[in-house]
Amino acid sequence: MKKGKTTGKMSTAAANNLLALEEKYCSWGDTVHYAPHPQIFSRAQGSCLYDHRGVEYMDLQMWYSAVNFGYANPRLNNALKRQIDKLPQLACQYLHEEKILLAEKIARRMEATFTEKGRVHFNVGGSAAIEDSLKLVRIHAGKNLMFAFMGGYHGRTLAASAITSSYRYRERFGHFGDRALFVPYPYCFRCPYDKKKDSCDFYCIKQFERLFETEYYGVVDKKTGKCEFAAFYVEAIQGTGGYVVPPPEYFSQLKQTLDRYGIMMVDDEIQMGFFRTGKFLAIEHFNVVPDIVVFGKALTNGLNPLSGVWAKGKLISPDVFPPGSTHSTFSSNPLGTAVGLEVMNLIAESNFEIEIPRKGRYFLAQLKELQKKYPQIGDVDGLGLALRVEICHKDGYAPNKELTDTVVDLGLSGNLSAGGKKRGLILDVGGYYKNVFTIAPSFYITEKEIDLACVLFEEALQKGINRLS
Ligand SMILES: Cc1ncc(COP(=O)(O)O)c(C=O)c1O
Repeated sequence: MKKGKTTGKMSTAAANNLLALEEKYCSWGDTVHYAPHPQIFSRAQGSCLYDHRGVEYMDLQMWYSAVNFGYANPRLNNALKRQIDKLPQLACQYLHEEKILLAEKIARRMEATFTEKGRVHFNVGGSAAIEDSLKLVRIHAGKNLMFAFMGGYHGRTLAASAITSSYRYRERFGHFGDRALFVPYPYCFRCPYDKKKDSCDFYCIKQFERLFETEYYGVVDKKTGKCEFAAFYVEAIQGTGGYVVPPPEYFSQLKQTLDRYGIMMVDDEIQMGFFRTGKFLAIEHFNVVPDIVVFGKALTNGLNPLSGVWAKGKLISPDVFPPGSTHSTFSSNPLGTAVGLEVMNLIAESNFEIEIPRKGRYFLAQLKELQKKYPQIGDVDGLGLALRVEICHKDGYAPNKELTDTVVDLGLSGNLSAGGKKRGLILDVGGYYKNVFTIAPSFYITEKEIDLACVLFEEALQKGINRLS
């Protein structure tokens, strides 16, 4: 098969041949396969992907927010290359400098933020880190039941699926005895209690508190005050749930109830961590201190994957969580830790805390202008560079999945024409009704690129509306 040396370009015949092989030999179980006509991508740079023809796609999802620092970021790529030449492989039972320094940097950052001493534990992939956090919780509480949010997503391994709200992800895999009790999330645009944000007086928290009113609501022994649930797994901003931003006071109110009954708070920052919302952790917007934080994705900017858990010292000290409590062959792999360390250095030297909210406001303002023009855009919101565009029917409320999917396909076709040349647009879909564009661009996206992204988005939306009318 003939390929361009650095462009990765290939002929249409070669690309079609690959698609035929994929159809025959690849499992589809490890992906989500949204696209009826998939593309073969061959290059990535900055905010863009390039398909086998060399067509440029503006990426507004950046590998589900794993590539926060832009594709092929030279500083992070070089950290990986340096490590390949220095210590590329090492069994995790032996120590290397980068693992130790990375743990130190994360732990110190948490200590500065939460005034809590803790330790850091590594694994590969978000779901695996969620599993590890569940072990920490179980050891400490001696219980295996969790609260989690409706609309929450914590991964697809078996234990992570048990605390992920969607039954669709569990239904073909037998009985889940440890399935979480799912609590409504403060999704104010579609309040599960049909309340209005301005006047609800946190009705959702009051409903949660009511669970503890009598033993007959099934969660607490009123005689001992003990709760059957060990922890509440939260996403400060829901990721797959559709980048839903809760009211600022929500989590501090919830935490009061959790503290009353000794329920730990586990903060899943796998998607929103590493400045996606303009702060190192999304939970920092909400003035609460979680007991455990789980992270992954952008820690290595999508290079050699690494995930991890930070926990308060008393939960993770070696006397309670000794060697072998969890282990994976690749858990603290040197390539991942080297890139993770460089990400932490890059963050320390950046002004993301100012730049990301500024870019987010600039992007959001343009999306709000589009909302005025298109009744099909029911809600636009966001925090930092985690933005949501909720697609509805003309009433601006009834979810419109068909239009959402059509816009995704039009973007992925690579046949948009904004800016005078053939282009594509990469969009991801989330939300309870699969009608929300969850927009997570590169942190280095320029204002010019945001302008172009909005033009491309409008072109795809308009074409989608025309196609379906
Ligand atoms: C909030 C959250 N938790 C957990 C996960 C699972 O991580 P992974 O896909 O790396 O297993 C994800 C992935 O999208 C996520 O967004």
